[in-house]
Amino acid sequence: MNVMLPIPEKLPPDLYGRRERDPLLRVLERLMNAHMHSLRFLHRRDVVGESNDRRLPVVIMARRVEAHDENVVSFILAAPDGGELPTWRAGAHIDVEMPSGRTRQYSLCGDPADSKRYRIAVRRIPNGEGGSIEMHELAPGSRLTIRGPRNAFAFAVPGHGSAAEHLHFVAGGIGITPILPMMRLAHRLGVDWSMVYTGRSKDSLPFLGELAEFRSRIAVVTDDEGGMPSAEVLLTGSRSDSAIYACGPMPMIDTLGKGVQADSEFHFERFSPPPIVNGVEFEVELADTGQRITVAANQSVLDAVKPFRPDLAYSCKQGFCGTCRVGVEGRPEGMLICTERSAGGRLVLDI
Ligand code: FES
Repeated sequence: MNVMLPIPEKLPPDLYGRRERDPLLRVLERLMNAHMHSLRFLHRRDVVGESNDRRLPVVIMARRVEAHDENVVSFILAAPDGGELPTWRAGAHIDVEMPSGRTRQYSLCGDPADSKRYRIAVRRIPNGEGGSIEMHELAPGSRLTIRGPRNAFAFAVPGHGSAAEHLHFVAGGIGITPILPMMRLAHRLGVDWSMVYTGRSKDSLPFLGELAEFRSRIAVVTDDEGGMPSAEVLLTGSRSDSAIYACGPMPMIDTLGKGVQADSEFHFERFSPPPIVNGVEFEVELADTGQRITVAANQSVLDAVKPFRPDLAYSCKQGFCGTCRVGVEGRPEGMLICTERSAGGRLVLDI
């Protein structure tokens, strides 16, 4: 959707030679940006669809521990022949196919200007589904296959696509990864910015050493010292003209959302799937075997079926990567079983 706003022909420059926008125009632009942002989330798969889906072999060039508790490791990836990798912009991620066949998504957290190397970082989750543990066991020289980059967390810099005048970043733990290239780009372009970096403890926060040069702009807030931060704390340093970019766990995003002004640009990426609202229990049937499985009102089809089909492919669990799409009787387009559900009737899955 393109909406053109009327722009006055002659605008007086301000004291610093910049053009001063009409206050009403600024409010309209910010409302439009917030609206466009909502549309981007509603059509997240369209955003992802602009991206590169080729499978590319890569080799791990380096592996480094990034958090004092040693639970976050970064990997430098390069093409086996040292050639150029697809370009990307801040906020992008890649799908990583591991030797076991598992696929996981990781934000790119290196420098987009480095055309021959990607950097990702992985938090080890001991009670997870095994993907992070497998990644942590990989050594330099290991080969992987990647897809992407794709960008579902697009970054618009004030003065370069955003009507905001200031940037405020909020990162929760490993949520720092997509924020790092945004922050560096803002810094390089001379855009004023602030950040709140939060997590369980300082030892759990990756890249603290790398962020040291920006210490005056960053407030580090940890649960072990101050408890779970309030919206007010998460917004420390933000202004009424800030665009807010946040990545972290669901409770942090929820808390933050309650404190963000309604007319502010608020862009976020969360770790977990969107909550199921008004779900009802239903049944799925696996076409191969005829087995019937009950999907609880608050459960995804993926989570209900996985114990019976551990080989099911999935990645983002948020409905935008497309990995979990399966055929469904009566639905020509199939279904993303991580997020899509039945309104009540039984579904026959082509698996
Ligand atoms: S796992 Fe990514 S869309 Fe379902």
